[in-house]
Amino acid sequence: MKFFAALLLCVRVCWGFVRENYGELLTVKPLTSKHVLSTFEFTIDVNDLHDSSTDDFFDPGYTIVPLQIARLIKENQVAEMHLRFTRGRWDVELWGEIPKQGLSSGGTGLELWSYMPVERDNLHWYQLTNQLSGIFCASLDTIDSTNTYQPRLPLQAKVSQPNHAFYFAALPQESVCTENLTPFLKLLPCKTKSGIASLINQHLLFDTNWHSLSLDILPSNEGERTDGANVITSTQIVITIQAVHDVERRLRRPDKSVFYPPEEECEHYDDNGDRDGEHGKDPLTCLKAIRSPFAVHFYDFFGMPPKPSCPLSTNEHDVLVVGADKQSEAWYRLSDGRLQDDVVFTTLQQRHPDLVRADYALTNYGNHWSGISLMLTNPQPKNYTATAMSQLPWFAHSYLHTLQVRVNDTLLPKEDVLCQIAYRPFKDRVHNSFLELQFLLPAFTSVKIITDFEKSPIKLHEYPPDANRGFDIPPAIISIYDNTTLHSTLRTTSLLLSLPTPDFSMPYNVIILTSTVMALTFGSIFNLLVRRFVPLTHDKT
Ligand SMILES: *[C@@H]1O[C@H](CO)[C@@H](O)[C@H](O)[C@H]1NC(C)=O
Ligand SMILES: *[C@@H]1O[C@H](CO)[C@@H](O)[C@H](O)[C@H]1NC(C)=O
Ligand SMILES: *[C@@H]1O[C@H](CO)[C@@H](O)[C@H](O)[C@H]1NC(C)=O
Repeated sequence: MKFFAALLLCVRVCWGFVRENYGELLTVKPLTSKHVLSTFEFTIDVNDLHDSSTDDFFDPGYTIVPLQIARLIKENQVAEMHLRFTRGRWDVELWGEIPKQGLSSGGTGLELWSYMPVERDNLHWYQLTNQLSGIFCASLDTIDSTNTYQPRLPLQAKVSQPNHAFYFAALPQESVCTENLTPFLKLLPCKTKSGIASLINQHLLFDTNWHSLSLDILPSNEGERTDGANVITSTQIVITIQAVHDVERRLRRPDKSVFYPPEEECEHYDDNGDRDGEHGKDPLTCLKAIRSPFAVHFYDFFGMPPKPSCPLSTNEHDVLVVGADKQSEAWYRLSDGRLQDDVVFTTLQQRHPDLVRADYALTNYGNHWSGISLMLTNPQPKNYTATAMSQLPWFAHSYLHTLQVRVNDTLLPKEDVLCQIAYRPFKDRVHNSFLELQFLLPAFTSVKIITDFEKSPIKLHEYPPDANRGFDIPPAIISIYDNTTLHSTLRTTSLLLSLPTPDFSMPYNVIILTSTVMALTFGSIFNLLVRRFVPLTHDKT
């Protein structure tokens, strides 16, 4: 099998011009005493993917690069792309820094970034979203002019191209589920037949506190064509599947139904389960053992034995188990067969109260006026610069003059804090309002930004089928810079905006009432019209 794969690869490499390289890595990293982050990362490096002179349809020339992705990139002239499906919120206080500075996951729902040539009618962008919608079984086809935006401040392109810009769209209402995961797994050269992908259990992946699926297309090298124009000569396609698992829930077996009290409760107990030194007084025995670091078997954690490595992978190792510190990192190869019962990892006990936090909320809940507030808290002794991008649907009429900035809860003039403002006002049924801000985030300070908006009535057919649920407002995207270098990217939670909703049963009530009245009227008139009145004659005998 391995020989065959190597042969196949050699034929391509020695014969054609396409050079492909594939690697996969599973990282297991304990975050707290009961949360473990698992990251499946599949990387394909390929050259000449952006060269539109080669014809993919008749001679794709690829063995590893998924053909549909290659065609998508070429047809739509995509230089860089990030597609993220995420569910849940990364809890900074509990789990610490978000992996890869937040550049491999999105806000809750669906997020798409694409760096491509700017066009007047955005035809390629809509074509891209429609094609992705088909590939990933997602409602990306609902992206239209209202939620498309070209951001000014966040995210820098890897390779800058003339006349290109980032297009961005977010769909917070998208519910991420197995039907989105399957297309991701189908893009892998070994599918789930071997390698780390065989450990992805769809049921367990979606039963987690936070999960994220992402596809990133990253140009990694730039060269010059003979005519002097810049071209992207090599590209990296990265598929990342991340999840934060609750180990207690994962290891729970039906026969071991032990009740563990909440963590705060355990502070009063010592290691023997005695409360405040009084032995046996409390019936609630706190099992402190489960709170302090404990060993988890790899096999138990993933619920199945791994299959041997994918033969196409050129990585020397498949699995990295990260411990509390750098020294306790351990690398493994799946074909060793050692992983199944030997590998244990210990959970950690730590908290991160000292990281920059972002809170996003709706302020007042009236039926007419409402507001949105974004609060950033910096508990570190460092001065940061932050950029924030937020979006409001067009039926929430936001007004820039209502923008207020509060630093440490005191109202300050905007000019003292904000460095840059980019604002695109709403236009009814045409586009949402987008607000981008760049501001200072001094040490030990909290900065709160509030804008008011007016809820405007919408037409009956514009309500979603579950109108009373409300409308999702996409998460705010925040980038924290430490003297112009990116420190981290944060996403807030999405918000739920409730609009005054008409009583949708009213038309039915009216129809029923009218029909009844009509039926009664028609019935009696019809009765009067067709009945024959015959005089009663008496027989006089
Ligand atoms: C942060 O900025 C303030 C005011 O500009 C300055 O006084 C302070 O020294 C800075 N702190 C650091 C850690 O750079
Ligand atoms: C905000 O308050 C903290 C102490 O609570 C203080 O250290 C910090 O300097 C204040 N920030 C500003 C900008 O005044
Ligand atoms: C920020 O970076 C510039 C250039 O790298 C450097 O000159 C400057 O001292 C740095 N500022 C701080 C506050 O570290």
